[in-house]
Amino acid sequence: MARLKVYEYPHSVLKKKAEKVACVDDELRRVLDDMLETMYAENGVGLAAPQVGLSQRMVVIDIAHEGEKNNPLYLVNPEIIWRSEETEVCEEGCLSVPDMRAEVERPASVRVKYLDYNGKECEILAEDFLAVAMQHELDHLDGVLYIDRISRLKRQMIVKKLEKNRRLTHQN
Ligand code: NI
Repeated sequence: MARLKVYEYPHSVLKKKAEKVACVDDELRRVLDDMLETMYAENGVGLAAPQVGLSQRMVVIDIAHEGEKNNPLYLVNPEIIWRSEETEVCEEGCLSVPDMRAEVERPASVRVKYLDYNGKECEILAEDFLAVAMQHELDHLDGVLYIDRISRLKRQMIVKKLEKNRRLTHQN
């Protein structure tokens, strides 16, 4: 397995709509393994292929808490087939927008159809934090970041802070 480079805002690959995966084979599984390793190494709870520069519709998620057993979910060609009317506000962060967080309002639960690690068709009802993670990661496949779902003012604040942090890192 290998750790992959995580691309950060405003890299253009993050704005692109990702392509459907044609088939789940060993080569693809290798990429999913690398994505998962990268996500764990970066302490993320989710990672979408565009974040590692691959414009393909696949995502890994693991919302297990620290100290708990790993519980990875691999989603290939995921699709939201139902959204609750009820919404929930949750604080989100993103490995592509490092060290920033903001509250985002989304449907409280979603039903998602996808292919798993073995290419088997699956369906899952995601609630609570899993619903947040699913929607956040699936947004990545359509070139949407969580900062696209907050007010312009808050987005500008985050982008400014991000640029400032980068300048500070580059000085050291
Ligand atoms: Ni993200």
